[in-house]
Amino acid sequence: MRGFLATLGTVAALAGSVLGQSDSTKYVDAETGFTFSQYVNDKGIAFRVAVPATAKANDNYEAVVQIAVPISVGWAGLAWGGSMTYNPLTIVWANGKDVVVSSRMAYGYFVPPAYDGAVYKVLKTGTHVNATHYQVTATCVGCTLWGDTDTGITAIDPTAQGTLAFAYAAAPVTAPANNASTFSIHDLIGHWIHDFSVASNADFNATVAKNQ
Ligand code: HEM
Repeated sequence: MRGFLATLGTVAALAGSVLGQSDSTKYVDAETGFTFSQYVNDKGIAFRVAVPATAKANDNYEAVVQIAVPISVGWAGLAWGGSMTYNPLTIVWANGKDVVVSSRMAYGYFVPPAYDGAVYKVLKTGTHVNATHYQVTATCVGCTLWGDTDTGITAIDPTAQGTLAFAYAAAPVTAPANNASTFSIHDLIGHWIHDFSVASNADFNATVAKNQ
C-alpha cells in the first residue's frame, strides 16, 4: 500500500510539470521595448519571442524573435514546432560584425535546406555583435503557422504554452557570409515549454517600426 501511494504521488507530480509549468519567463527588453517570453539554455543562449496582443490562434500572425548567443557558439537554432523536422527553423550565426539569419526546414536528420515559408526582417535595434555575444532581433511571418494538407497544419496559440526546441554547435558554419551555408550537426539539442501568453505586445506594430 505504501508503495502504491508513493507511485501515485510521482505520477501526480509528473502530470503537474507537463501540464502547468513553463520553462520560460517574461523578459522586457529595454533596448527594443518588446516584451518577450524567454528561455535561456545551459549554454547561456537566450531564445525570446514577442507576439502582437491582437494575435489569434490559427492566424499566421507576425512574431518577433530575438536570439542572444555567446560568441563561442558557431550557430544556434530555434525550432518553432519543438522538433527538428517539418517546422520552421530559425538559424543564426555571426559573420564578423554582422549577424546572419537563415530560414530552414528539415525533412530528415540532415542539413536543413532553405525554407521560404518563413520570411524574416532583421530589426536594426537589437541586432549586434560584441566581444561576448551576438544577438539578432527579427520579425518573422510564417513562424507561427506552417504545414500543408499532407503534413497537417500546425499553429502556435499566442495565448497558451507550446513546446519549442533548440540546437547549437560550437563549430562555425562553412560560409558565414552566405545564409544558405551548410553547417555541421549540433553539439546539443533540447526541448522546453514556452509560455507565449506573457509575450503579448499591445503596441507591437509601433515597436517594430521604431526598431527598423
Ligand atoms: C547539419 C545539420 C543537422 C544534422 C546533420 C542533424 C542531425 C540530427 C540527428 C541525427 C538527430 C538525432 C535523431 C535521433 O536520434 O532520433 C537530430 C535530432 C534533433 N535535431 Fe538535428 N540535425 C541538424 C540540424 C538541426 C537544426 C538546425 C536544428 C534546429 C533547431 C535541429 C534540431 C534537432 C532536434 C530538436 C532534435 C531532437 C529530435 C527532435 O526533437 O526532432 N537539428 N538531428
